Formats: sequence, C-alpha cells, structure tokens
Amino acid sequence: MNVNYTDMIATFGIGGAHPGGLSATKHIVDRLQLAPDEKVLDVGCGNGQTLEYLANTLPNPLYGIDQHNTMLANAKKRLKDHPSITLKHADIENLPFPNNYFGLILSESVTAFTPIDLALKEYARIIKDNGNLILLEMTTNDTLKQEEQLEIEDFYRIPQLLTKEMWCDSIRKAGFQIISVEAIPDHLENIIDFDLQTVISQRHFELMATHYHLTEKYKSTLSSRLYYCKK
Ligand SMILES: C[S@@+](CC[C@H](N)C(=O)[O-])C[C@H]1O[C@@H](n2cnc3c(N)ncnc32)[C@H](O)[C@@H]1O
Repeated sequence: MNVNYTDMIATFGIGGAHPGGLSATKHIVDRLQLAPDEKVLDVGCGNGQTLEYLANTLPNPLYGIDQHNTMLANAKKRLKDHPSITLKHADIENLPFPNNYFGLILSESVTAFTPIDLALKEYARIIKDNGNLILLEMTTNDTLKQEEQLEIEDFYRIPQLLTKEMWCDSIRKAGFQIISVEAIPDHLENIIDFDLQTVISQRHFELMATHYHLTEKYKSTLSSRLYYCKK
C-alpha cells in the first residue's frame, strides 16, 4: 500500500494538522478584523477542524477545499451541523471560484505541499483587492544540506522547501504585500485531535513515527512561520 504522510493524517482523522494545532488557529482567527460579509476560504481544509472553529466564531460565509477524498469526507462529517459551509473537492492550482471573490484565504500547512508560485498566483486571482492571505507554513531557518532537504521533501512529498526570505520573494512576486512575518508563539499548546474510525495499518503508525522523528531531528532548522499578506 503506497500511503503517504497526508493519507496518514486523513486515516487518523487528525484535526489541526499544522504546527500549533488548534491553538495556532485560535491565535490567528481571534485577531482577525474582517467585515462580516467577507467570504473566507480555508484552502486545504483537511479534516475540517479550522472550518468548525471559524463557523463557531465568525459570521462570515465559509468555504473549504481539499483534493484528498478521505479528508473531505471527514470534513463533511465533522461539519454536518454547519450546512452553510461550502465544501468542494479541488486542486489549489485550479480553484473553482471567480476572480476577486474572497476577503480572506487561510492556508494552514498546505501551500508548502504545492508548487508554491502556482498556488500563490491562483490565490491572487480569487482574493479581492485589499483582501487578506494568511499562510502558516513550513519554513527552513537555514539552507539545508542537499540530503537533508531531500529527506524532508521526500517524506512530506513537498516540491520545495523555502527559507523565510524565499517565501517572502514568492509572495511578493505573486502580487501580495507582506504585512508581517511571525514565528508561532512559544506559549501555544499544540492541541491535536484524532477521530479514529477505520482499521489503521502498521504503515500508518510508521509514518506517524517518522513524522515525529523528523520533527525532532530538524527542530533547530525547520520551523513554521505565519505570513500575513494583503493583495
Ligand atoms: C498537512 S495537511 C493540513 C490540513 C489542514 N489545513 C490542517 O491544518 O489540519 C495538508 C492538506 O493540504 C491538502 N492539499 C495539499 N495539496 C493540495 C492541492 N494541490 N490542492 C488541494 N489540497 C491540497 C492535503 O490534501 C491536506 O489535506
């Protein structure tokens, strides 16, 4: 069975599969200043934990997309009491929304998994002028050795691994202004929830173990940053 890191998250039903988990989401959402009619897209919504928090916190029209069928099915189940949320199966490189549609796109540990320049270009197309883009994304503190870079790219199946400066260059090149770049505050508790429903194979546990091994191995070089951007 050729399962990967993302399949593992889907099978374990992990909500908040990003650094800082739900605490980081609350840190972002609770500081948002958004008119109540602005549409919000959780891009790569995974199992739907963030959309649930948004629905319980904001009056805004909410949308989520993901390309992973199991993630989307988990999200639909989790959000069954929030029928106004629009959930779609879609690829970030070709989002099924008109130009200038969203007041905010939120990407929590998602854009790093895609060809970043193509994803940012697509976000720039569907975000309104003056709209917001918030990225919480894997960022290297230094340029890694080639074999280290390959180990990480291989395991997470990410096409590239960027430093903060490289992220900022790409974000600007896509037409966004960078408002601030922050580390995830240390005091945030990493809350992760699980929804274990299916029979989980040995391979899934191995992937989970490797993820924690790599997190420990690269803890001084690999971290995440919050990029607050405006179109
Ligand atoms: C690490 S998970 C994070 C999920 C969720 N944002 C969270 O924080 O729990 C990455 C998610 O991005 C989705 N994803 C990756 N590449 C994508 C693409 N090109 N189009 C749509 N979704 C994508 C994956 O299916 C997965 O659900």
